[in-house]
Amino acid sequence: MLNVLIFGAPGSGKGTQSEELIRKYGFKHISTGDMLRAEIKAQTPLGEIAARYINDGNLVPDDVIVEMMEQFVLTQKDTEGIIYDGFPRTVPQGEALWSMLERHNDKVDLVLNLQVPEEVLIERLLHRGEVSGRADDNMETIRKRLEVYETSTAALADFFSAKGVLHNVVGTGTVEEITARIIPIVDGALERVKTLTQ
Ligand code: AP5
Repeated sequence: MLNVLIFGAPGSGKGTQSEELIRKYGFKHISTGDMLRAEIKAQTPLGEIAARYINDGNLVPDDVIVEMMEQFVLTQKDTEGIIYDGFPRTVPQGEALWSMLERHNDKVDLVLNLQVPEEVLIERLLHRGEVSGRADDNMETIRKRLEVYETSTAALADFFSAKGVLHNVVGTGTVEEITARIIPIVDGALERVKTLTQ
């Protein structure tokens, strides 16, 4: 099983590229943002906690996220691969995922770091806010999300680079152009996993 992390700033295309990889490889997809929005919609206790943070552009506390993800990781089997989208998002979350997988004799195989300039991120998110009405896609919250990304999330790139699994991907251009940059990286990782298990 291949564990792929799709990593990048808000609006970098994590969800969009995840969909392309699901279509091509049939991987399972887990988005912490989608999970939290579903909890908010269902008005669960977790959703109530999450709403307090998401609506202001802040991160939901690590212990809440790690507990939610532990349940997910524990129950995964019989799949070609999993795409983690929006998780981990802090170095403590990265460390937690790393040790969670190790406890299951598993590992992070690949981290795809989508690199997109800030003005493009803002343009994409404002456009999505206009079209879909997503509550955190307004200028004030976008600025906060980008600031939180720089202060709390960006350091994860060094964490995964030190582990030897980080791949930087130019995240501008059309969706298809970006997918075409990602596919050889995923194919290479699948080959390596196959060779190791033969
Ligand atoms: P989350 O839902 O993960 O949001 P995000 O990281 O802000 O990312 P987005 O969904 O906004 O962007 P994306 O990179 O997926 O880009 P997309 O493909 O959608 O998290 C939301 C909140 O939940 C967080 O702020 C936090 O509060 C909380 N949270 C989630 N996970 C957490 C965690 N682990 N720990 C703590 N808190 C957590 O694309 C964006 C737009 O651009 C779309 O409209 C798309 O159509 C368009 N687009 C994409 N690619 C292109 C392209 N190539 N050209 C033109 N347009 C494009």
